[in-house]
Amino acid sequence: MFDLIDEQDEERPYFETGGVGRSHDFYTGERQHRREMARIYGRRWLPVDHVSRLKEKGSYSTLNIGTGSVLLMHGDNGIQAYHNYCRHRGYKLVEEATGKRQSVVCLYHCWVYDRNGKLKSLNGTYFDHFFEKEKNGLVPVRTEVRFGVVFIAFSDDAPDLDASLGQFGEFARVYELAELECVQAKDYPVASNWKLVAHNVNESLHFPTAHKDLHRITDFDDAGTYDLKGDIVGAWQSIRGGYNSVSMTGRSGRSPMPLVPEGDQQKINWITILPNLLFGFTADYVMMQWVWPESPGTCFVRHFWLFHPSETAKDDFSHEAVFALWDKANYEDWELCERTQRGLSNPMWAPGQLSLDEEVVSQIDAWVARETEEDEG
Ligand code: FES
Ligand SMILES: [Fe+2]
Repeated sequence: MFDLIDEQDEERPYFETGGVGRSHDFYTGERQHRREMARIYGRRWLPVDHVSRLKEKGSYSTLNIGTGSVLLMHGDNGIQAYHNYCRHRGYKLVEEATGKRQSVVCLYHCWVYDRNGKLKSLNGTYFDHFFEKEKNGLVPVRTEVRFGVVFIAFSDDAPDLDASLGQFGEFARVYELAELECVQAKDYPVASNWKLVAHNVNESLHFPTAHKDLHRITDFDDAGTYDLKGDIVGAWQSIRGGYNSVSMTGRSGRSPMPLVPEGDQQKINWITILPNLLFGFTADYVMMQWVWPESPGTCFVRHFWLFHPSETAKDDFSHEAVFALWDKANYEDWELCERTQRGLSNPMWAPGQLSLDEEVVSQIDAWVARETEEDEG
């Protein structure tokens, strides 16, 4: 891909030692889970949505993160995130995943907020000397947009977003990420630790055993790992000759996205923004696949499928063959992750050696371990 691969260090230590999995506690422990929620999910910039889902004023989406929930709304100054609860007594305001509304009504006592999060009208009798309407709006969460991806941060000391994104922009620009249209979204509950899903979706070693449809079209053996700058990891994998689309049929009439270099038109570039958003970049479409932790042993996956607007505008546009392949592959994967969770839940779990094809698995664990290291003393 691009020139990145030429610049990367082929002498890296992984090639000398390989990798090894981590402890039972790292994948199943309460304490490790709490550290991840506080230090990673509670502190860092987190990618949460794509701008094509929040295009018009009043459009909104919601996302549960840990025990909280955020509401993203397109207001008069663009997209802004808020904590998804009513300021009055804490009722969870919006349960729907997406939609459009110009005001948000709390169904408990009927406080009403406008699309900018301001309290517009309220129920209850208050004296002016103690009630300040402007202090009772929705509580905003820091929000930024990069390359069409909406990011939020719950803390004021999140590490710099652009530095974290590192070389991600090189992929985002070529696949015109900010211009794409999300045509399908689906959530999947998974009964495993979130890291097992992150591992699974970042390696293709299991394709021949788990995914007959994917294996027919993509080559797990013609693949490699990127050594990328920033808090991102990634790998590439080739699409077999005779196919031009990673879908149930393997073929589509869609043109390759115009900026994708010829050498990448027969490839999937798998790039993960750490901690939890995997992109599958193909010349035909792009996938965004998040894994959100819920508890040490449960998580949910949110999967988007995005296409170039020049294709979605066509009367005969259909993403069915693409969705059919991934929806089936997803269920195949969750079964693998859930059963791995059941295996690792044995406190006597002793990890085995990882292969050269699983460098990203090892990179993800190393990154999480670094972020959640216990302070000395
Ligand atoms: S909790 Fe929302 S109006 Fe009372
Ligand atoms: Fe898989």
